[in-house]
Amino acid sequence: MADPQVVLGSRVRAALGAAFGADYADTDPVIRPSSFADFQSNAALPLAKRLGKAPRDIAAQIVAHLDIDGIAEPPTVSGPGFVNFKLADAWIAAQALQVGRDPRLGAPVAGHPQTVIVEYSSPNIAKEMHVGHLRTTIVGDAIARVLEFAGHNVIRDNHVGDWGTQFGMLIEYLFEIGEDAPAAQLLRTDPNAFYQSARVKFDSDAGFKERAQRRVVKLQSGDDPATQALWDEMMELSRQYLNDVYGLLGVTLTDDDIRGESFYNDLLPGVVDDLTAKGLAVQSEGALVVFPPGFTGRDGAALPVIIRKRDGGYNYSTTDLATIRYRVDKINCDRAIYVVGSDQTLHFRMVFAVARLAGWLPEDDRFEHAPIGMVQGADGGRLRTRSGDTVKLGDLLTEGIEQARAVLDEIEGMDAATKDAIAQDVGIGAIKYADLSTARDSAYIFDWQKMLALRGNTGPYLQYATARIRSIFRRAGLDPAAILSSAAPRAPIVITARAERDLALQLLGFGSVIEQVADTAEPHRLCGYVFETASLFTTFYEQCPVLKADDAATRTSRLLLCAATLRVLTAGLGLLGVPLPERM
Ligand code: ARG
Repeated sequence: MADPQVVLGSRVRAALGAAFGADYADTDPVIRPSSFADFQSNAALPLAKRLGKAPRDIAAQIVAHLDIDGIAEPPTVSGPGFVNFKLADAWIAAQALQVGRDPRLGAPVAGHPQTVIVEYSSPNIAKEMHVGHLRTTIVGDAIARVLEFAGHNVIRDNHVGDWGTQFGMLIEYLFEIGEDAPAAQLLRTDPNAFYQSARVKFDSDAGFKERAQRRVVKLQSGDDPATQALWDEMMELSRQYLNDVYGLLGVTLTDDDIRGESFYNDLLPGVVDDLTAKGLAVQSEGALVVFPPGFTGRDGAALPVIIRKRDGGYNYSTTDLATIRYRVDKINCDRAIYVVGSDQTLHFRMVFAVARLAGWLPEDDRFEHAPIGMVQGADGGRLRTRSGDTVKLGDLLTEGIEQARAVLDEIEGMDAATKDAIAQDVGIGAIKYADLSTARDSAYIFDWQKMLALRGNTGPYLQYATARIRSIFRRAGLDPAAILSSAAPRAPIVITARAERDLALQLLGFGSVIEQVADTAEPHRLCGYVFETASLFTTFYEQCPVLKADDAATRTSRLLLCAATLRVLTAGLGLLGVPLPERM
């Protein structure tokens, strides 16, 4: 592990052990970036009481026992008892080269790999995905990729809404128009249109309504093969729609990851029975409910989780309770991350509370809702088209690609066909990066101009940064991977300028960021890291000539730094799922 905070931390702990005894060797070394040096350790301050010594004396003791030869210059003590570290340029340079050459770029493999369910996307069948689902899809996919890279066993889970009373209507409609009717194909191309026409018939045709209601009963009884076959057909058409969207987005979900609400149907009666047997379920206004303690409405009245409705049907919450039991008992997951809109926060808090009451979740469980903030229109409300309709996902993605094409027009010296090809990556990358770079629980305003800007923390800026590094190598007639490979002559990176040092130091932090993102399930931290890296590269590139460097050694050193930076950016953006055009 090259991360200086980790390296310094372990050295400070060793010094604490040597100075004050083994009991002190696992003290938090409190390493922080410093404005005077590179880093400082604030460990001395909280130890003052325990050791009965002045923090400055403790700091001096730490310094006296520190072994950081070759890593940093001799440390100094400042302020009330900070220990300051200035890293040695040669150490930074050697570590940066090592990161560039390491297949994992310095990122450790999780010491205790966990089985983690990442539930994301989860749209409703026969309805168009909306921008909310788009964001849970994109953020969830990045979380899954990072956890997997960090060494965990990730189970992607697309918890689609494929069950419930409206499916009687949809299946009956599919039955009556026939699977091959153009209207049936809408399930594949424009699910909302299919849903709407079924709805219109349902509302205007009493006979159809009755048949639809009979169909629900057949569906839920599970013993009518014809109904089952139609449901399967509907699912197949919907899967094709989803795969088109996921394919265009470059999202890693496959058919095998779909485990929709219907999957848990058989487990629902057991949920109700067990909650009843445990005395947790009570009758309330004809429904069966659980009141988890601590949840009250505005009027102060206890809020219920409805597990069986007045009409005998099960509820969304019942399915979620069954899902929790399945994940704990059958999948044995150590952690489950629900990447779902923040408007469902209360739902998940209450459902998890009921599961804990029932003893279905292990103690210190890691079942977490990763709330996703709303994607808003310019007015802060729902995203709408100019004519005021809700924006269709397909149209949105197409528009992104077209808008990207317009931005590329500004780039000189590139032919139109090349620009067309790049526009797709740039449009999709811009949308994905905008979803990812805002803290996931914050809402943000969807703004083409902002997300497509070639400057700032945007997808196109980062894509451009990688394309620019590639172009340096193209001009030099060199392959960036080859010059880093172990077969290449072992030339060193030599730091001669501040901008080189800042960039090289930044590269050492990749592994820590991955660990942080895996722990918090917050991809925006990785966005912040790649953006900072690209910005430091920009400064370096402005200040330090690469191909026209003064001498061959400097040129090689800078090319190595470029190649290592490219690998870090490519890996980071790859884990975010942002496509990277070769040139731009
Ligand atoms: N299908 C739901 C929706 O579109 C999201 C499902 C979220 N996941 C869950 N386990 N409830 O709102």
